[in-house]
Amino acid sequence: MELKMDRIWHGGDYNPEQWLEFPDILEEDIVLLKKAKCNIVTLGVFSWSMLEPQEGNWQFDWLGKIIDRLWAEGISVILATPSGARPKWLADRYPQVLRCNEDGTRRFYGTRHNHCYTSPVYREKTAAIDRALSKRFGAHPAVKLWHISNELGGECFCPLCQEAFRNWLRDRYQSIDVLNRRWSTVFWSHVYDSFDQIEAPSSNGENQLHALKLDWKRFVTHQTADFLRSEIRAVRTYSNLPVTTNLMYYYRGLDYFKLSKEIDVVSWDTYPTWHKHSDAETALDNGMCHDLMRSLKGKPFLQMESSPSATNWQGVSKLKKPHLLAAQALQAVAHGSDGAMYFQIRQSRGSAEKFHGAVIDHYGGADTRVMHEVAQTGELLAKLGEIVGTRAVSEAVILYDWDSIWAMEDSQGPRNEGLHYTELLLHFYRALTRCGIGVDLKDEESLMQPGVLAKVRLLIIPMGYMFRCGFDRAVEAFVRDGGILITTFWSGIVDENDRCYLGGIPHGLTQVLGVRSSEIDGLYDWEHNVLVGRETDGERNEYECRYLCDLPVTTGLDEAMTGAHLHGKPDILLKYGKDFYQGMPALTRNICGSGEAWYLASHAGEKLYEDMLLRIAQEHRLGLVGRETGALLPNGLQVTQRAGNGWCYRFYQNFSEESVEVTLPGNEWEVIATEQWGEGVMEDAHSRIIPQYGFLICRKASGEA
Ligand code: GAL
Repeated sequence: MELKMDRIWHGGDYNPEQWLEFPDILEEDIVLLKKAKCNIVTLGVFSWSMLEPQEGNWQFDWLGKIIDRLWAEGISVILATPSGARPKWLADRYPQVLRCNEDGTRRFYGTRHNHCYTSPVYREKTAAIDRALSKRFGAHPAVKLWHISNELGGECFCPLCQEAFRNWLRDRYQSIDVLNRRWSTVFWSHVYDSFDQIEAPSSNGENQLHALKLDWKRFVTHQTADFLRSEIRAVRTYSNLPVTTNLMYYYRGLDYFKLSKEIDVVSWDTYPTWHKHSDAETALDNGMCHDLMRSLKGKPFLQMESSPSATNWQGVSKLKKPHLLAAQALQAVAHGSDGAMYFQIRQSRGSAEKFHGAVIDHYGGADTRVMHEVAQTGELLAKLGEIVGTRAVSEAVILYDWDSIWAMEDSQGPRNEGLHYTELLLHFYRALTRCGIGVDLKDEESLMQPGVLAKVRLLIIPMGYMFRCGFDRAVEAFVRDGGILITTFWSGIVDENDRCYLGGIPHGLTQVLGVRSSEIDGLYDWEHNVLVGRETDGERNEYECRYLCDLPVTTGLDEAMTGAHLHGKPDILLKYGKDFYQGMPALTRNICGSGEAWYLASHAGEKLYEDMLLRIAQEHRLGLVGRETGALLPNGLQVTQRAGNGWCYRFYQNFSEESVEVTLPGNEWEVIATEQWGEGVMEDAHSRIIPQYGFLICRKASGEA
């Protein structure tokens, strides 16, 4: 079901149930929401005990009045189902709704997200209230979208979940012999005789059988998705509105590619730790997560939550410096979001989040710094309505695969003191950003869909530990057909059951790459090696590298050592400079078919990725570097594009402390918005100095529908 929007959503989570005794405050909220230029609120996320104070006693009138009142003032509603936290009566009467820890102990009532996704009672009770909400509000003109539960996550180890896990395994493997083989249970004599013997992994029991742990994680996603489906079915009883559920950052507990198949629109909650490190780096990390969220469904998403000022749960609660609030909202839009929303509209008086930032704080007036910035942001977003529904422009893909990450992080291997996976991703992401190359993050299943790789120019596989069946062949075809591939160390190591591939790694790609990984050395934190280039004009490139040093052998060496024959003679661009593997290849490029395949053997510092991507972008005319600037963009500048409705939109945003000068590439570009503060003057019709947190948005006509 498509979400139909005619403006960028600006608003946030609103909890009027905390203020029902204060009608004046509720009335004042409407005034303040309008002053803050909010056009939407999310209602009902944690309202269950006010909506159903006793079992079956629905009390929806208060909510109805608020929805009507908001709608009369032109404010729309995202309506949540309240399953993220439950009333006490429910847990007291039906203890099975509470989660069990991995040692089997039942949790006490309390906090939120403390419920079993399998429990038939919990499903029945949530479905009952969801149906009732759907009947009452599902056709209300104010209500635009269902918000199912809140930040689904966590695990339950109760007997019902254990049984469901065993049934899921039965379906997956059919016979226990197949399971034993696929799980490698002969190791340490852990062979099972029947599915009935299988228990979920536990730190008090089986916690070394990697394939079991991997399947448990897959099962948790499956079961959570099943619970999500049960809620979606319930709200759809009387309503045909689209649904979302709000996701969390790079949350490791659920495979978001699988979960997002259930929903119509992806939304997520972003709480970057601004001002902790460099804001340019924080913006990169946040930008990459936006790109991941957009890639889950390959279409516009929503920034569902963000803090209008500080959070109350980070180690130190930093206020957002002036103008950052608008910059963060705009960054979401620039990366493909059609909304910029906050947690929360009105700050609560008591309990856990009373000091969390809000649009309306305890003072309660409109004359606050935060309110002023929120209103300015709302005004800006109101001018950008034409961008709604347009698609982000990207030429590159980074592989991001939950199964592979789960397996890799659980494995005991060359570096148990930290693989620094996300750091590696960010090195690539930073280099792509500095080249002005738009990127999607996709899992293997998405990339293996027919036609998907054919649209990609550059595919990056950073530590792609697990290759599912057929992935290697898809990647090979991609390269042979003209694609550019960059693969790194610790890729193509295991199959989908975390069993090591035999016969050479990266599995299936040794011919494409022209190298085979022979061994991998773990480095202590205090160690490093160096990657050295060829000497040209008395100079040579050198890059420090850390953590892991893979030792690739090329065709020639391989023939000499094993007699095996590999095709292709890769160009060796960098070699190790130290240790017993000094002189072995560390960065190679192999021409294969009409494409090329790069192999990076170690985790180098950021410069290497920038130099590598710059060269690729220049040679293949990729991104802004390849087509316009010829040189890397300044650090901290993000340039992204969206296209559709006959236009191409370009966003320049500066997250560095220094001002940056940008020049529009041609007369066809028309400026549609810039920040209205600071000295960001147009130098001439096409050049502009953008201050920290400043921006420039422009558009040009394009053929794209
Ligand atoms: C989110 C959550 C909100 C609120 C917020 C505080 O993770 O969905 O309900 O707790 O964090 O930052």
